[in-house]
Formats: sequence, C-alpha cells, structure tokens
Amino acid sequence: MYPIQRNRRLRNSATLRALIQEHHLAPSDFIVPLFVIEGSQKKEAIAAMPGYYRRSTDLLAKKVKSLWNMGLKSVLLFVKVPDDLKDNKGTEALNPEGLMQRSIQIIKNAVPEMVVMTDVALDPYSSFGHDGVVEYGKIVNDPTVEILSEMALSHAQAGADVVAPSDMMDGRILGIRKCLEEQQFHDTVIMSYSAKYASSFYGPFRDALDSAPGFGDKKTYQMDFTNRREAITEAQRDIEEGADIVMVKPGIAYLDILRDLRESITTPIAVYQVSGEYSMLKAAAEKGWLGHDAVMMEQLLSFKRAGANLIASYFAEEAVKLL
Ligand code: PBG
Repeated sequence: MYPIQRNRRLRNSATLRALIQEHHLAPSDFIVPLFVIEGSQKKEAIAAMPGYYRRSTDLLAKKVKSLWNMGLKSVLLFVKVPDDLKDNKGTEALNPEGLMQRSIQIIKNAVPEMVVMTDVALDPYSSFGHDGVVEYGKIVNDPTVEILSEMALSHAQAGADVVAPSDMMDGRILGIRKCLEEQQFHDTVIMSYSAKYASSFYGPFRDALDSAPGFGDKKTYQMDFTNRREAITEAQRDIEEGADIVMVKPGIAYLDILRDLRESITTPIAVYQVSGEYSMLKAAAEKGWLGHDAVMMEQLLSFKRAGANLIASYFAEEAVKLL
C-alpha cells in the first residue's frame, strides 16, 4: 500500500532498471531468414522489404561467415525457383542438386557449426503457388505429405540440421519423422510451423519468392485468424507426431497465441516475425513517423516476454548490432 510501496522506486536509475529486467534479447535468440537465387554475384533488392536481399549461392559463404561473427548462429533458407522448373508436384524440390540442396552444402562447408534450417513446403516449386499438390482445384493432403517427407529427407541428406515444414498439411510431421528415422537421420530436428495463420502479412515474402497462389487463397490449410484454442491442438498434435520445436506465425498480431502455447506446452517455441511486419516498420520509419530502432527492439522483446524461445526475424542483424 502507498507510500510503503512505491512502484517507481525500482525505476529510478538505468542501473536499477537493468538489475530487475525480466526479459533479455541475445544473439542466440535469433533465426536469420535468407533468400537464395541462382546466378552469380547477384544481390537483388526486394521492393517491399527495404534493406533485405535475395542472394546468389556464391555470395552465401561470405554472408554466413559475417552472421556467425556477429553471434548469429542459425539461418532459415528459402529459395526462389525459376519458373521453368515449377510444376504441380514440385518435382524440383527433390533434386539432390537443386538450389536448396546446394545452398545447404555451401553454408555447411563455409561455417560447419552454423545451424542450417530449411523451409519445407511446395509453394516456391509449385506452378500453382500452393503449398501442396492441386487436384481439381483442391489442395490434396496425403499425396502432399509424401512429397514433403521426401523433401525433408533430401534436405537432411544435403546436411540440414533442422527441417521446417511451413505447409500446414495434416500429418506431415509424422510423415517426415518416419521418413527421417527410416533413413537413419535420428538427429534431424523438426521445427514445425504449427500455428501458422492464413495471414495477409505474408505479401512481401510472396513477392520476394514469386510464390503467390495462382488461384484462391491458403485458407483450407493455414489457420483461421479468428481462432485461438485451435493453435494449442495444432501444436500438441505436431509434438505427438515428432516436432522438436513448434512455431507461431505471424508475430506481433499473435502474441496471445504465443502466450497460450507457452502455458500449455513445454517444447521450445519459435515465433516468426513475418515480411509484412518488417515492411510496416520500414515504411513508417522512412516517413519519419516511428523511430526504427526503438520500435524494432520493443517488438522483438515482446516476443520474449510473450514466451518465445526463438525469433525468426528479418531484423535479426540490425537488432544484434544494437545489443
Ligand atoms: C510458404 C511460406 C510463407 C512464409 C514462410 N513460408 C508464405 C505463405 O505461407 O504464403 C511467409 C514468411 C513471411 O511473410 O515472412 N510456405
């Protein structure tokens, strides 16, 4: 009771505040998404993501060495596949010499300790831009799971430490886990995009990879953003099927989901601060309406406070420079 208790006492100086700080950001919290393209010496700007780039494979080694030296120890790879290699079944995704498989090898050769995570989904490889195989206008579940399992295996064979299925098909974690176990990849980690919502925040990413759906939307597989409890079901099923890490995506608009999962499961939880979230802050900062660095750090810290163990963010490098 006032004045015996005064809440401001512990806020009186920066040192006192630091002593009682409940949550911290560290370089080891971050996962750095990387966009990879074919070609040489290419570093392409992405219109809606100022300051973020697509890089050709020959620039990857230098990039990951620099990330490693900053204390950033995990990367999440996405590839932009040339149109003539796209088909309904994402055949190119299984090519052992494909862009993803080569990128994994290049990074593991350059920095063997770097934790290499890979996106497992058909959309960058699909002529329809969907995360699964299309039959009569529908995204068919089980045939997709078979391909995703082979795709994850192919990433593990190329040297990936973590496979990250972002497709939201049912049973894909079990399919992938069984396939990895059968082929003796007992230690490959599965980070499942468990609570991935059908979100309009993914727009800039789809531009970056040229992976926007050719028809319809992703609402028959990604979650409805009106739902909360369903996220817990999704995460629990993925864990039962063999996921080691579960993810919530997008980030800022879904902090409640992050907190719900933190309170109902013990598995490590990742959050993905997606492209649209990055773009919004970049745009507001360009206009001089928001202080870029301060808002960035406040948002990133909020993920830790809400219960995230890991943060996939396009801000990772900029944030670590400020720590
Ligand atoms: C596709 C995938 C998407 C993102 C990651 N993996 C887009 C989508 O589901 O359409 C979005 C990431 C971002 O917006 O930063 N499987």
